[in-house]
Amino acid sequence: MSTHPSAPSPLRVALLGGGTVGGAVARALLGRADHYAQRAGRPVQLLGVAVRDTGRPREGIPTTLLTDDPRALAEGADVVVEVMGGSEPAGELIEAALRRGAQVVTANKQLVARRGEELHALAAEHGAGLHYEAAVMAAVPVMAVVRESLAGDEVTRIRGIVNGSTNYVLDLVGREGVPFADAVRQAGELGYLEADPTEDLQGLDAAAKIAILARTAWGVPAPLEEVEVTGIADLTDADFADAARQGGVLKLVASAERDTDGRVRASVRPLILPAEDPLAQARGGTNVVELEAALAGPVRLVGAGAGGDQTASAVLGDVVRAGLAAARR
Ligand SMILES: NC(=O)c1ccc[n+]([C@@H]2O[C@H](COP(=O)([O-])OP(=O)(O)OC[C@H]3O[C@@H](n4cnc5c(N)ncnc54)[C@H](OP(=O)(O)O)[C@@H]3O)[C@@H](O)[C@H]2O)c1
Repeated sequence: MSTHPSAPSPLRVALLGGGTVGGAVARALLGRADHYAQRAGRPVQLLGVAVRDTGRPREGIPTTLLTDDPRALAEGADVVVEVMGGSEPAGELIEAALRRGAQVVTANKQLVARRGEELHALAAEHGAGLHYEAAVMAAVPVMAVVRESLAGDEVTRIRGIVNGSTNYVLDLVGREGVPFADAVRQAGELGYLEADPTEDLQGLDAAAKIAILARTAWGVPAPLEEVEVTGIADLTDADFADAARQGGVLKLVASAERDTDGRVRASVRPLILPAEDPLAQARGGTNVVELEAALAGPVRLVGAGAGGDQTASAVLGDVVRAGLAAARR
C-alpha cells in the first residue's frame, strides 16, 4: 500500500461585510484562488460573507455564500476578516475571534484607534493575531514599512495627507478655484465623502490613522483623545486666498513625533505648505506619508487611500500574513 502525503487543510476565511471593501475581497479570493493558495501555502477557502441584506445580489459572489449571521460564520474560521465598519457588532465579533485564538484582519480604523491596546493584549493572551494594514491609508503599505521595514531604524517623525476626501476638496478649491462650499457638495455627489461627512471634514478619520501609526512606530499608547484635531469644516474662501497670496497650498496635515519625555504628540490640522513640499503635491484623493527615520532619512509612500479594490489589496495581504501566522501556531 502506498502512502500519500496528506493534502494541507484549507485556510478557512470568514468575511464579515460584503460592501465596497468586502465585495472586492470576496471577488479576489474566489477569482484568484490559485494565487492565494500559492501565497498562503494551502488552499484559501471563503466560508461565507456576512451582510445585513442577504436578498440583495452581490456582483461575483454566489448567493449561497451570503449569511446574515456573522457570529456563526466567524466561529468556524481560522481567519476572521472584519470589513463591516462601526463599533458594534464589529467590536464584539473581533473580541470573540481573538478569545478563541483566531487570526483577525480588520480595516476598521476607528475601532483600532480606540481599542487597539486592549485588542492587542487579548490577542497576546490567547495566541491570536490582529492585522490592520487596511485601516491606515488603504493601498499604501505604510503599516508594514513602519512595523517591519524600518524596525532596525528609528522613526523620528511622521507627516502625511492621510484622508483622500478632504484632500480632494482642498485640491478642487486650491487648484481650480471652486468655492469651498461647492467643492464639499461636489465631493459628496461624486461619492468622495461618506453619507455622513463629519468624520472626514472634522479630521476624525485622519486622527484615527495618525494615532495608529504613532503607536505602531513607537510602541507606546497614542490615545485618540490626545490627538489635537482641527478639520477643514470651518475653512473659508478667505483662508484659500491667503494661502494663494503666500504662494502656498492649503492641506490637511496629520503629523506625529515624540517629545523629549517620550510622549507622543500628534495633530491633524489645515496648514499652508510651500508649493514644493511633497505633501503639497498630493492631487485629488491621493494619500502621501513621509516617515523621517534616523538612518534612512525621509521615506515617502504615495498611493490610493481609499476604494474597494485598493483597500482589498491591503486586506488580502493581511489574509496571507494571517494564514502564515496561523500555520506557525
Ligand atoms: N471604502 C473604503 O474605501 C475604505 C477604505 C479604508 C478602510 N475602510 C473601512 O472598511 C470597512 C468597510 O467599509 P466599506 O466601505 O466596505 O463599507 P460598506 O460598503 O458600508 O460595507 C459594509 C458591509 O458590512 C455589512 N454589515 C454592516 N453591519 C452588519 C451587520 N450588523 N451584520 C451583517 N453585516 C453587516 C453590510 O451589509 P449590507 O451590504 O447588507 O448593508 C455591508 O455589506 C470600514 O471599517 C471602513 O472604515 C473602507
